Amino acid sequence: MPTSDSGVVVVGGGLIGRVTAWRAAQRGLPVTVVQPAASDAGAASTVAAGMLTPATEAAFGEEPLMELGLRSAGLYADFVAELEAASGVEVGYRTSGTLLVAFDRDDLAALADLHGLQERLGVAGERLTGRECRRLEPMLAPSVRGGLLCPDDHSVDPRRLLRALSAAGGRAGVSEVSDRAVGVLSPGPGGARLGVRLSGGRTLPADQVVLAAGCWGERIAVPEPVVPALRPVKGQLLRMRGPEGEPPIVGRTVRGLVRGFPVYFVPREDGEVVVGATQEELGHDTALTAGGLWQVLRDARELVPGVSELEVTETCVGLRPGSPDNEPLLGPTRVPGLHLAAGHFRHGVLLTPVTGEAMAEVLTDGALPGYARRFAADRVDAGASTGEGQWN
Ligand code: GLY
Repeated sequence: MPTSDSGVVVVGGGLIGRVTAWRAAQRGLPVTVVQPAASDAGAASTVAAGMLTPATEAAFGEEPLMELGLRSAGLYADFVAELEAASGVEVGYRTSGTLLVAFDRDDLAALADLHGLQERLGVAGERLTGRECRRLEPMLAPSVRGGLLCPDDHSVDPRRLLRALSAAGGRAGVSEVSDRAVGVLSPGPGGARLGVRLSGGRTLPADQVVLAAGCWGERIAVPEPVVPALRPVKGQLLRMRGPEGEPPIVGRTVRGLVRGFPVYFVPREDGEVVVGATQEELGHDTALTAGGLWQVLRDARELVPGVSELEVTETCVGLRPGSPDNEPLLGPTRVPGLHLAAGHFRHGVLLTPVTGEAMAEVLTDGALPGYARRFAADRVDAGASTGEGQWN
């Protein structure tokens, strides 16, 4: 088994860990990824729908996060081209835009507010009547009141993206250790080195360690409380499809608000459509519940009644890693050599390219690039054992 006697050890083999590993290896660093053979139930990267939608997920008060999302969305086309060439894996990048639709008058008012925010931030979005929405997406219900067409909000298939990042990492020299990381050992007096302790008892020495283990990151023992509480936010969703050979029920990503509840449809080339998702704060619970699926299907059917006819091919539960302020935690902590790439919450797929770029820079040059400094991991002095973070 390959071992790391120096270089970077990345704990976590999801999208954020894999992109960090690949980009760091491209810059000439020796990199090892530590990932258990069987992923944790609820691992977000293999459940996520893959929306790249900074414009339609914009929220008041989250403008800096939206700007980071827009930067990452702007990197995506080149990132995909480079990754597909490096890995030989096609990642299902679709550039057909996103239609956000409203079910009732209040939902329409929320869309108008969002459009105002988009205009203020210079993001493309076009208001449409219900009829115009149905012209674009004929399967929408006659009751849809209106919408917002966001031509630059795209999608990708996260499962393919993960395969591609693993393959590209392997080709760039990234080593793999199939084990569970249980702790980080601190450098100290007497020559003690930084390292990652594995469940089997072995330690991987490292020059730098990146914790990229989603909402499982805070379970890894660290020498000082530098990992803030990463709360799991459960999402339940379904994968569905129509008859063999038929196109997906929607031609582009359709997001909707139904009596204030968000719901989305993300189509794939092969006819599949991902329909989601709940947002539940129940710790690490990964139970699939009748109530959760019912809520998603109830709202999905209001917008696209034909969804009832589709075959359900898979039901999934994912745990989004939410940081204390819902913004990512990137770069160095005050434990020398220990970094975080965590807390991407609902935006991990979107933020994959920009995270890879920022983490590679900090691992090689020692500082985050200017655009990422707001998201510095050490902005929170975490009381990890109590789950209470202090803001710096
Ligand atoms: N970004 C979509 C979700 O978290 O459900």
